[in-house]
Amino acid sequence: MTTKKKVLVISTSLHAHSNSEALADEFVRGAAEAGHDALKISLRGKKIGFCVGCLSCQSTRRFVIADDAPAIVDAMHDADVIAFATPIYYYEMCGQMKTLIDRANSLYDSDYHFRDIYILTAAAEEEAGVPERAVSGLEGWIECYPKSHLAGQVFAGGVTNGGDIAGHPALIEAYNMGKSIEKPPMNTKLLMPATAAALSMNIMAQNNKTATLEPLTLTAEWDKTFPKSDLVNHEKVTFTNRFGITLAADLYIPKTHNAKMAAIAVSGPFGAVKEQSSGLYAQHLAEEGFLTIAFDPSFTGESGGMPRYTASMDINTEDFCAAGD
Ligand SMILES: Cc1cc2nc3c(=O)[nH]c(=O)nc-3n(C[C@H](O)[C@H](O)[C@H](O)COP(=O)(O)O)c2cc1C
Repeated sequence: MTTKKKVLVISTSLHAHSNSEALADEFVRGAAEAGHDALKISLRGKKIGFCVGCLSCQSTRRFVIADDAPAIVDAMHDADVIAFATPIYYYEMCGQMKTLIDRANSLYDSDYHFRDIYILTAAAEEEAGVPERAVSGLEGWIECYPKSHLAGQVFAGGVTNGGDIAGHPALIEAYNMGKSIEKPPMNTKLLMPATAAALSMNIMAQNNKTATLEPLTLTAEWDKTFPKSDLVNHEKVTFTNRFGITLAADLYIPKTHNAKMAAIAVSGPFGAVKEQSSGLYAQHLAEEGFLTIAFDPSFTGESGGMPRYTASMDINTEDFCAAGD
């Protein structure tokens, strides 16, 4: 059973027909469909002044500026999950988001409820590294709230004008991310013999110790051992499994498709990476009309996880579950 969570999505773009807000809407839709209490707050039309740096809100828990920030900060305090949606401005989060985060200073050292933090970004450029500094800025904030961690990110690149995001695969990612919030914890003892359980718990501890999405180094160029198909769109994506490991994958989307597609997750045998035959199978299946994902398993290739090149049946099974989600 999934526990019902309070999910707060803060859309920070003031832009009409905002691209990042479309990601926020999809995240909310996914979370609501998964049975959570999902609420979106848009900063459009809100009045949020700059933090004046007096620090009094930290001791009094009261705000010295009477504007729209206190109500939003209260909602942040009570939420179990917070997703920030932001346009990329000069390779960073937008100023509105930074101002809100600063104004949320009263949460510091409080009994805040939030644990899972997400970031949804949109930018004109397409390269996977474009949102890096925005993610890193948010990680700085998360570091000050040690009970929380970065649980996921979605990036929609190549969108400039309002509404450009229509049909972008990142919308599906945002929806799936919202839908996969708080999967039930695994009962590892029931699934594994004691030694495997100990290994997995150790790996979980190691990977959760950093408490952030691992910074993966992803290649933007086509680096496969097979040629790119003209019938299929390709996108690099990342996601986390329930062991806290971030996986890197290639999403293959048929260029002509209906709104609903059957999806297939593909990965190779131990040591294989998605640039090889699993990617080729995934691309070919996408040519046949399936939405496919070829991923590097935990500890392998561009995916995260320590120690490297570890074999675990259970974690590999979980990788497939996470890829399917
Ligand atoms: C002030 C400003 C700075 C921007 N800086 C970048 C940038 O550094 N890189 C980029 O790819 N796009 C940049 N953009 C483009 C926006 O990220 C892009 O239009 C995005 O889709 C806007 O999202 P929104 O519709 O949710 O506001 C910038 C736009 C503005 C207005």
